[in-house]
Amino acid sequence: MTKRTVNEMDLSGKRVFMRVDYNVPMAEQDGSMVINDSTRIEATLPTLEFLMEKGAKIILAAHLGRPKGKNEPSMSLRPVASKLADMVGRPVAFIDDCLGEKVEKTIEILQPGDILLLENVRFYAEEEANDDEFSRKLANLADCYINDAFGAAHRAHASTAGIAKYIAEKGGQCGAGLLMQKELQFLGTELAEPESPFVVILGGAKVSDKIKVIDQLLEKADTILIGGAMAYTFKLSQGLKVGKSLVEPDKTDLATKALKKAEEKGVQFLIPTDNIIAIPVITEKLNKKGKPIMEFQSPRTNSEENIPDDAEGVDIGPDTVARYKKIISEAKTILCNGPMGIFEDPRFSNGTFEVAKAVVEATQKHGAKSIIGGGDSVKALNQSGLGDQVTFMSTGGGASLEFLEGKDLPGIMALDEI
Ligand code: 3PG
Repeated sequence: MTKRTVNEMDLSGKRVFMRVDYNVPMAEQDGSMVINDSTRIEATLPTLEFLMEKGAKIILAAHLGRPKGKNEPSMSLRPVASKLADMVGRPVAFIDDCLGEKVEKTIEILQPGDILLLENVRFYAEEEANDDEFSRKLANLADCYINDAFGAAHRAHASTAGIAKYIAEKGGQCGAGLLMQKELQFLGTELAEPESPFVVILGGAKVSDKIKVIDQLLEKADTILIGGAMAYTFKLSQGLKVGKSLVEPDKTDLATKALKKAEEKGVQFLIPTDNIIAIPVITEKLNKKGKPIMEFQSPRTNSEENIPDDAEGVDIGPDTVARYKKIISEAKTILCNGPMGIFEDPRFSNGTFEVAKAVVEATQKHGAKSIIGGGDSVKALNQSGLGDQVTFMSTGGGASLEFLEGKDLPGIMALDEI
């Protein structure tokens, strides 16, 4: 299945409707919304530059947050338009709607190379409902369609999927942007036949979130290294004590099955043998939602496989770090998805950052191909300033996971086959 990309599209002078994932973290500062991390905006620049060079008239559509069909000012894309203008070094027009006369009039006067960013498509409930009429109206704004929103490709929404049918009906082309193409190359082609040793590092809170990915990767990986809270469900499945650690007691059967499959396939499957633990204490302080804040007290290394009854595992321990680092240093292909502990707390970030450093070293010194599967892993790498030293960082969170599970993503399926 080969999908059309911008390289195989006729773009000169065309009105191009391009779906991007500008769902970026924002926070309120002095009464206005400020973008905290513009990685996803930056990741679309190669496609935008390509389109500008081709003389396309660019109409960008994106979502921000989950406004549930309502016009929610804190979720406006206006701040993104200014950020994007700074990045591309030219004006970016912004309209506070994504349909209607104002939008149509602005598109009429777009010159080749101009960029227009439409308001949050999710201000219309029809977007998430993948409404036919809404999809058709969006399609009427343009001659062709580009999807560069890998991060939203797992959603069957009007601007990510529904629109393609109506563009095609008018004889227009539907293709992948350069970011989408890169995501498919690294998460798809490169991992289809990875150079061995292929080491997979999986972390995060829940076994249930990652079990399908684990199942897929057990077909290809040489070693799987487990960290994060999901390690405790694996421990529990082996009859070990987990104290107050975050676990999914009803998912131990999935963990057992994964361990059994690993054994059958000859995949080395490692869970932490030591941990950083702390005592979780409910304080009298309240969070913004009025709920009591939990604090971790008396952090220490626990070298036992069992975790004491009053403690919670919050990071992998030093022995595990050393063992994982050695394995990573010998890898030729690395896939990393999910942190090793509660890395947002500097007391429990060592495991995540040491593993990240090992991945960077394997990439830079030994020529390993390192692919970072999005979400928290990307955040951790960026936080440690190592983001540009791995081979590829995915812009997808849920989308990368679903793609790695082997699912067909609606945003990709909707594009033309060539
Ligand atoms: C993401 O941030 O993962 C994507 O933008 C998709 O957002 P959603 O989960 O709200 O659909």
